Amino acid sequence: MADPIDLRSDTVTRPTPEMRKAMAEAPVGDDVFGDDPTVNSLQEFAADLLGKEAGLFVPTGSMGNQVCLGVLAKPADEVICDSGAHFLHYEGGSVAANLGLVARPVSGDRGVITADQVEPLIREGNDHNPRSAVIAIENTHNAHGGKIFPLEEARAISKICRDRGIAMHIDGARIFNAQAATGTPVREWADCADTVTFCFSKGLGAPIGSMVVSTADNIVAGRRLRKRLGGGMRQVGVIAAAARVALETGPDRLVEDHANARLLAEGLAELHEDAVDLAAVETNMVYLNLEPFNVGAPEVSEALMKEGVLTLGMPGYSMRLVTHRDVSTDQARQALDALRKVLG
Ligand SMILES: Cc1ncc(COP(=O)(O)O)c(C=O)c1O
Repeated sequence: MADPIDLRSDTVTRPTPEMRKAMAEAPVGDDVFGDDPTVNSLQEFAADLLGKEAGLFVPTGSMGNQVCLGVLAKPADEVICDSGAHFLHYEGGSVAANLGLVARPVSGDRGVITADQVEPLIREGNDHNPRSAVIAIENTHNAHGGKIFPLEEARAISKICRDRGIAMHIDGARIFNAQAATGTPVREWADCADTVTFCFSKGLGAPIGSMVVSTADNIVAGRRLRKRLGGGMRQVGVIAAAARVALETGPDRLVEDHANARLLAEGLAELHEDAVDLAAVETNMVYLNLEPFNVGAPEVSEALMKEGVLTLGMPGYSMRLVTHRDVSTDQARQALDALRKVLG
């Protein structure tokens, strides 16, 4: 039987032959000693691409967020963020458990918090209140269907942070999707922030790995924190080599994923006008509303599995479909046919 068409996430891609070759041939050393040439070169390449002084290779996006927030804030400080932020809901409570930070969630508009919303919340900290240390934004926003964080709003938040002497962090797990969709180079968003983390293991298509970029001083502190979190890795050039291929070949290809997501979304919108909010499909994710079909996500997922399509049911009547390198346009069409059959 053919491999299923896997629309659960863009994390499911398998390494390409080019990645496997690069992994097999990578020069390596002990990265805890700073001796891995493949990692060192990837860190420099990534920092340069995002216009920052230095980079730090980390195993996951979750560790990337922790390293950044832990460098920017002290225990009992607060981090102001959108109420749907990935690190609040899907990273095991690590910001509280491992960093001792308090979250101050704000309801953004589809994940986009504004400067006007957050400015009045910033507080110095005293015997009673935590000190606001960081404002964090997510670009693109996972829980809001791959929503792009508008550059102008990021700049407005950045200005407030600088004026008020607090830091700004970008969870840019999928920031290259924002670049592909808008043509705005990632460094424009990165310019706004003190720290940025992005993932190689999502749309860029590498099997493992994320990057933190920031100032040289923050990266020195970040290395120490990464070690404390258990993320000091040894001959990790074998992974960094695949990440390098992903970073060199992945960003330009993301437009194909976005076109395939649109193909799915438009096809589904033809089934029912409330099935998909087409305006909300900006990058590689489609949130399908199953309410008009009066059927729950578990049933639909099971029926689709029999048609060779894997999907992720979300709470309520919602289902997430994510496109990526291992879903061709033909496969997106096949998946749409299967969805029509199951929902029609
Ligand atoms: C926006 C965002 N940030 C961070 C992460 C965490 O990445 P990881 O799964 O590598 O820990 C994810 C993962 O889906 C994500 O979507």
